[in-house]
Amino acid sequence: MAQLVPVDPFDLIIFGGTGDLAMRKLLPALYHRDCDGQLTADSRIIAASRGALSQDEYLASVEAALRENLGEGDFDETHWSQFSKRLHYAQADAFDHENWNDLVDVLAGREDRVRVAYLATAPSLFGPLANGLKTNGLVTDSSRIVLEKPLGRDLESAREINNAVGECFRENQIYRIDHYLGKETVQNLLALRFGNSLFEPLWRRSAIDHVQFTVAEDLGVGGRVEFYDGVGALRDMVQNHLLQLVCLFAMEPPSSLDQNAVRDEKIKVLRSLKPVSAENARTNTVRGQYTEGAVKGKAVAGFRDELSAKDSTTETFVALKLEIENWRWSGVPFYLRTGKRLKAKHSEIVVQFQDVPHSIFPEQEYNVSPNLMRIRLQPDEGVQLSVMAKEPGPGGFDLRPVSLDLSFAETFGIRYPDAYERLLMEVLRGNPALFMRRDEVEAAWEWIDGIIEGWQVSKLKVDSYVSGSWGPTASSMLLDRDGRAWHQES
Ligand code: BG6
Repeated sequence: MAQLVPVDPFDLIIFGGTGDLAMRKLLPALYHRDCDGQLTADSRIIAASRGALSQDEYLASVEAALRENLGEGDFDETHWSQFSKRLHYAQADAFDHENWNDLVDVLAGREDRVRVAYLATAPSLFGPLANGLKTNGLVTDSSRIVLEKPLGRDLESAREINNAVGECFRENQIYRIDHYLGKETVQNLLALRFGNSLFEPLWRRSAIDHVQFTVAEDLGVGGRVEFYDGVGALRDMVQNHLLQLVCLFAMEPPSSLDQNAVRDEKIKVLRSLKPVSAENARTNTVRGQYTEGAVKGKAVAGFRDELSAKDSTTETFVALKLEIENWRWSGVPFYLRTGKRLKAKHSEIVVQFQDVPHSIFPEQEYNVSPNLMRIRLQPDEGVQLSVMAKEPGPGGFDLRPVSLDLSFAETFGIRYPDAYERLLMEVLRGNPALFMRRDEVEAAWEWIDGIIEGWQVSKLKVDSYVSGSWGPTASSMLLDRDGRAWHQES
């Protein structure tokens, strides 16, 4: 395991500190880092929120959340008593900047510490909260601010947020989170591409037929249904997570892991995306919404049944064909799909290489199928390479695909840290390389806005799909039209 270096003493203020993200992800992540000795003695975590809560009430809610959300057997009474000493609660209303005394008091005299404000709130509060920090004199030279997604709902709202936060913090103090960038296997994509010389000559149009990106979830939208309605899968998953995966997969080799070297290469990919418009929205994109069905043998309701307003046309599934207009990728389609209530939680990138140029095995009964590389993101993270091999035995050549399979869990045999564990440490260390720069977020929105406009102009309808399936049939048709098919697990 990589050596864990403790981070400098810090004050981390979590706005929305009693909310779902803080309780489910951020505090468990910090607890794990504390257990591994990465949080120095003098570091503190301050939950800020609108409600009046005593310190005891706050601690009780964190303890309950940790017991529920840490892995089995990970909660430890002794460690909890040590960790809880770091926790503080401060009342602060985003729109009432005059009454931030709790926060001002708790931070007074600690200006030399690393100070991070994590906004785990609705994006409409990002501007007001940044402004509240500034007007209360809480922004120090070493301050950082972390913005959770969604960063707006289109280019215009994203710009407004960026402008408002930008009036209070410099760009290099702003950390826009996309938690996919903190996932071990997503980082492994960098290791695979740039830690091996084997693949680089093949990573281009001359060797690759097409690439498939799947981020499938078996869960529905659950308690977020009212929020999700009107957002949809394109804004929730493609604008950020899937486009970031495409960028890491398709970018040119950066000169280093320096914060701007990687981001400079990613932005070039975003700027090379062929726009989707009203003309090609119907042929290049698919929208779907789940109806009732069964997932893992359990009956589940449809999206509209979960909503109070039953006539929603919000997509819970999206599939699209993306084209990158540059020398490396011209003519190589990238097919993307993501959806809720699909058959399984399953995320992977599948690279299909070109067919052999000429088959010397004409008599064999199997076709020589193209080599596939599967980069499994979750679950069972790993890489699988399928190659053709001869079935043992005398006689002619019977070929079939066999797998060279690398499972990271089996190879490294350790717990995979949650993405937030890494990302929080990167913020505290002051390394923004794994966070999105303003130009990236805005370029991604610009492309997504084009699709949404294309949908509106072409009146692209939402196809229904049964919960527990792999999405609407139109998703298969998208590839079928090009003579291809999704490589899904059955
Ligand atoms: C979030 C989306 O960003 O990512 C959710 O808002 C989605 O809708 C989640 O469920 C998926 O994350 P993960 O890490 O479970 O793949």
